[in-house]
Amino acid sequence: MKTLRFGIIGCGMMGREFASAAARWFHLPGMKVRPEIVAICRRDISPESINWFTDNIPTIRQVTNDYRALLDNPDVEAVYISVPHNLHQEFYCAAMEAGKHLMGEKPFGIDKQAGDTIIACVRKRPELFVRCSSQFMFFPAVQRIGRMVEADAFGTIIEVNAGFLHSSDLDPAKPINWKRMVEYNGEYGCMGDLGPHICSFPFRAGWLPVNVRAVLSNIMPQRPDGKGTMVPCRTWDNATLLCEARDANSGNLFPLTLKTQRISPGQKNNWYLEILGTKACAKFSTNNANTLEILEYTGGEQRWQKIETGQEVPFASITHSLFQFGVSDAILQMWAGFLYEFDEGRPLTRFSGCVTAEEATLWHQLFTAALESHKSGSVVTISK
Ligand SMILES: NC(=O)c1ccc[n+]([C@@H]2O[C@H](COP(=O)([O-])OP(=O)(O)OC[C@H]3O[C@@H](n4cnc5c(N)ncnc54)[C@H](O)[C@@H]3O)[C@@H](O)[C@H]2O)c1
Repeated sequence: MKTLRFGIIGCGMMGREFASAAARWFHLPGMKVRPEIVAICRRDISPESINWFTDNIPTIRQVTNDYRALLDNPDVEAVYISVPHNLHQEFYCAAMEAGKHLMGEKPFGIDKQAGDTIIACVRKRPELFVRCSSQFMFFPAVQRIGRMVEADAFGTIIEVNAGFLHSSDLDPAKPINWKRMVEYNGEYGCMGDLGPHICSFPFRAGWLPVNVRAVLSNIMPQRPDGKGTMVPCRTWDNATLLCEARDANSGNLFPLTLKTQRISPGQKNNWYLEILGTKACAKFSTNNANTLEILEYTGGEQRWQKIETGQEVPFASITHSLFQFGVSDAILQMWAGFLYEFDEGRPLTRFSGCVTAEEATLWHQLFTAALESHKSGSVVTISK
């Protein structure tokens, strides 16, 4: 099997998810290429913070706290960079300048200016394979919805609703962290953190916002700093974006509602997608991650049906097709999508390739327009 030698820059929550996915690559018997992690970079390289990596991954030959040293390593062919948003532009551009293939994390730059700089670097190095992580498109039910889009099964789109709802920030005692600080997370707040995940499917489907009216809320303007003091928390907790979207296929306009909430009582990690069309409708939520709801209208009775999906995955897995699917399976499938497309030069299917850098620029256009819309209390045009 071919190997793509990786360095991980940013060994936090997502760095570990990649390391774990790479470690169980033999789960995917059809793959012709596999990732091998040869180098890691973390700000803190004390034994207690890196032992998990070095104890579990015998192929690691370089451990550093200097990302430039990792990029200078000729053994590293590709990097996965999962660091706070304020570092995306510097790290992603340096990686491309060093000639490394890149899997970046969302929002692919802390703001539109950073996003524009990153996309300029991407365009300068067309020989490099650059993608952004977002695993939700890889849930089997979402893959099925993708096949419905490809088959033009929905008819005229009536409306699309997508959202990502969390609730742990309802706890006022939860200490602040970088994801709640504008300097590290960015002005987008919850939109930059959760929003890319809910845009990935509609944008890939060719449903692109032409304008937006956004309502943003900072429900908890203060949080404990973890050392006994309350400090300002200026990031947006919740955002509701009502967009007019154009279906690139038909040219028709329809309402697209995007909700990202860090304070949605009762939720844990609820990514949902609802598509209503004149011929078919579909609903999916990670709260019922193995259930797809579909209504197909051919005249007569209108009937929602529930389909249990199991392991209907784009990249064949050793797990039995009847077994249920979860988030870490989606992450593994996403990485398979990255390596497959890197190796073959094209994605297996339209909805089984990772988010492109060009798609990420559309996030920046939308979230920047949403900030302006909230501030001015008006509808902001994104494209004509
Ligand atoms: N795909 C997803 O589902 C998902 C989920 C959560 C976060 N993310 C994204 O992943 C990225 C990282 O988030 P996370 O939750 O893993 O954060 P995290 O805080 O768990 O990890 C960040 C890591 O970056 C390291 N770091 C910070 N500064 C550094 C530097 N100068 N040099 C090297 N390493 C440095 C930290 O030591 C830490 O290990 C963000 O872009 C975030 O939006 C994606």
